Amino acid sequence: MADRLAGKVAVITGAGSGIGRAVAERFAEEGAVVAAWDVNEPAAAKTAKTLVERGAMATSFAVDVSSSASVRAAAAGVLEQFGTVDVLVNNAGIFDYYTTLRDTTEEAWDRVLDVNLKGMFLVTQALLDALIEGGGVVVNTSSISGMIAGGGGVAYTSSKHGVVGFTRQLALEYGKQGVRANAVLPGAVETEMTKPLLAQKDLPILETVRSVPAGRHAQPDEIADTVLFLASDEARFVYGTSFVVDGGWTI
Ligand code: NAI
Repeated sequence: MADRLAGKVAVITGAGSGIGRAVAERFAEEGAVVAAWDVNEPAAAKTAKTLVERGAMATSFAVDVSSSASVRAAAAGVLEQFGTVDVLVNNAGIFDYYTTLRDTTEEAWDRVLDVNLKGMFLVTQALLDALIEGGGVVVNTSSISGMIAGGGGVAYTSSKHGVVGFTRQLALEYGKQGVRANAVLPGAVETEMTKPLLAQKDLPILETVRSVPAGRHAQPDEIADTVLFLASDEARFVYGTSFVVDGGWTI
């Protein structure tokens, strides 16, 4: 184990799968105490169990980031258990599978925006005092859909643009109070979210994924390394940025 996050308490949402789980593993390797949050309770517990088996300190919380009551309860639980939060990774998210504006239902729109954007607002607000107190760091998972159209449908693209704005506002409002916030914007990453898409042969977007300079999609640990950088002291002068990790998709 290295020590880039030694002794830091990190809350990671969506830590039961994909990028969130990879971030949890990477953070634990660097000495962080991990609170794995996920609406999928067994998945969050599995992440925490894996980390503990590897010698790290970790615990899991069942939390729906779109529910203020659920978020408040989890925030209180973390603060009771660990006394502080040093790093927050707002990563939980859902996809809208390229649904066009015409075909997006009000329910689907609300669900995507509630999880991807409101969830970030609720979790950050619930932990804000602790983050200010400890000079905390926030890393929000946006997407290249936070800067271009076509990486998702209208609800997803709107939510991920919202994440970029939320991150900038957070960095501006609380930077001077010691909270450093940034967003990470992944391109295509192989996770539970995208496996059904990546398995389809004739989906036009896959042509784009293969034609990026890197020539392939990413694995979750390749995003986790950037999240680690942004969370670590190496990024101490990086504020409110949209850090693109997309194999060159958007250049
Ligand atoms: P994933 O589906 O593997 O993991 C997402 C996790 O979030 C799951 O464990 C899920 O249970 C959890 N989650 C969903 N709704 C939740 C809620 N209401 N409360 C708490 N947890 C909830 O997906 P992946 O790919 O790891 O996604 C992580 C983040 O990365 C998302 O924000 C996604 O939009 C973003 N992203 C993913 C890309 C990809 O190609 N996979 C590309 C760009 C961004």
